[in-house]
Amino acid sequence: MAAMHPDDCEAAGKIYCEGIRSGSGFTMEARFLRARDRTYRWHLNRAVAVRDAAGNIIRFVGTSIRDANRVSEVITHLRALFAKKEPATDPFDMTEATEEVLALCSSDLQRKGTQLRPEFATDLPVVVGDRVQLQQVILNLLMNACEAMVTTPLSRRHTVLTTRFLAASEAVEITVQDNGTGIAAGDTERIFQPFVTTKAHGLGLGLAICRSVAEAHHGVLWAENAPEGGSIFHIKIPIAGGQP
Ligand SMILES: Nc1ncnc2c1ncn2[C@@H]1O[C@H](COP(=O)(O)OP(=O)(O)OP(=O)(O)O)[C@@H](O)[C@H]1O
Ligand SMILES: [Mg+2]
Repeated sequence: MAAMHPDDCEAAGKIYCEGIRSGSGFTMEARFLRARDRTYRWHLNRAVAVRDAAGNIIRFVGTSIRDANRVSEVITHLRALFAKKEPATDPFDMTEATEEVLALCSSDLQRKGTQLRPEFATDLPVVVGDRVQLQQVILNLLMNACEAMVTTPLSRRHTVLTTRFLAASEAVEITVQDNGTGIAAGDTERIFQPFVTTKAHGLGLGLAICRSVAEAHHGVLWAENAPEGGSIFHIKIPIAGGQP
C-alpha cells in the first residue's frame, strides 16, 4: 500500500483488511502512484474469496481497473458488473457488445497512441450469457494490450480485435492481437495464475478473473505469441447448445 494516495489509505485500508479478515472480499477505489510519471491514478480493485468444498478460503481472486480520465465511466460499468451476484443468462449479440466496449475506451486507446483495427463478423449467432462480464473481459484484454505496447514505436502500436463464428465448434471467438512485447517463453499459461504480474503496479489479477468469466460461460481463454511479434488472446464462448 506504499504507493497509495495518503488521503485514501485509511478508508481503503479498512475495507481491504475487513474484507480479507471476514472472508467476504472487498471492492475499493483508491489512487495509486505511477512510478513512470509520479502521478496518481484511480484504481478500482475488487477481490472475492475462492472456497473449497468445505467452505475454507483457498485464495482471493479479483481485478483492478485503472484509467486517468475515464475512470468514473469505467467504475459505473464495473459497479453494474459487481452488483450482480450470479452471471446473467441473456441472449445477446457479441459484435454489438464488443462495439460498446470500443465506444467506452476508444478515446483512451487513441490517447495512448494505440491504433485499433476492428474486424467484426456481421452474422454472429446469438450468445447466451452475461454480456457485461464478457465486456469486462474484452476491456481487460485491451488494457493489457495497450500496456504491452508502451515500448512499441507509435507507428507500430496496432491492436486487432476480431469477432467470428466457428461453425465446427458452434462457438463465437473473439481475439485481441497486439504488437507489444509478447509473452515470455513458457509463460503463456502461467500469466493466468492470480498475482502473476510483470508490472510495477499490476495486481496480476486481470487475466485470472477473465479466465474464470470465460469458464463460467463454458468457454475458454488462452494466449499465444504471434509469429510476427506481439501476442494474441483468444476467447471462445459456445453458443447455446454448442460445446467449447
Ligand atoms: N497483451 C499482453 N502482452 C504481453 N504480456 C501480457 C499481455 N497481457 C498480459 N501479459 C502478461 O501477463 C501478466 C498478467 O496479466 P494480468 O492482466 O493478469 O495482470 P496485470 O496486467 O499485471 O495486473 P492487473 O491485475 O492490474 O490487470 C502481465 O503482468 C504481463 O506480464
Ligand atoms: Mg491486466
